[in-house]
Amino acid sequence: MFTSLRLPLIGLLSFTLVQAVSAAECATDTRRGAEVFATECSVCHAVTKGTTGMMGPNLFGVYGRKSGSLAGFSYSQAMRDKDVDWQAENITQLITQPQAFVPGTYMPYMGLASADDRQAVACFLKEQH
Ligand code: HEC
Repeated sequence: MFTSLRLPLIGLLSFTLVQAVSAAECATDTRRGAEVFATECSVCHAVTKGTTGMMGPNLFGVYGRKSGSLAGFSYSQAMRDKDVDWQAENITQLITQPQAFVPGTYMPYMGLASADDRQAVACFLKEQH
């Protein structure tokens, strides 16, 4: 009986730990992330569900979404082939230097110099769902 209980308990415990770690990674002030998004990204990206017609894909729900997979958006072949699930780590890599992370991408963005701002905007995107 105890052995059958132990596995689910370990699962639950490590799940809780993972949650705690990702919460800590996103402990940055999300108001800062919203500001960074407004000045650096909102000219090309919406975060409101259903908004289309911008130069970049809608980023509502982007966190955990597979790269290049939003239906109806014409991505570059490079972005469709990238095959990552967007998380803080790869979002920050993308916005450090898009052409380095996805060579051939259509995202005409030079990159965000501040690591704190990159993290803040990634955490802001995590909340847009
Ligand atoms: C000048 C326009 C422009 C700016 C500014 C811009 N992007 Fe983009 N972004 C794009 C385009 C266009 C694509 C699609 C790229 C492709 O298909 O290769 C894209 C793709 C993305 C993707 C991949 C989405 C998906 O569905 O796979 C993410 C994430 C992203 N941008 C985040 C950001 C963030 C965060 C910022 C601000 C720091 C930003 N972008 C600034 C135009 C822009």
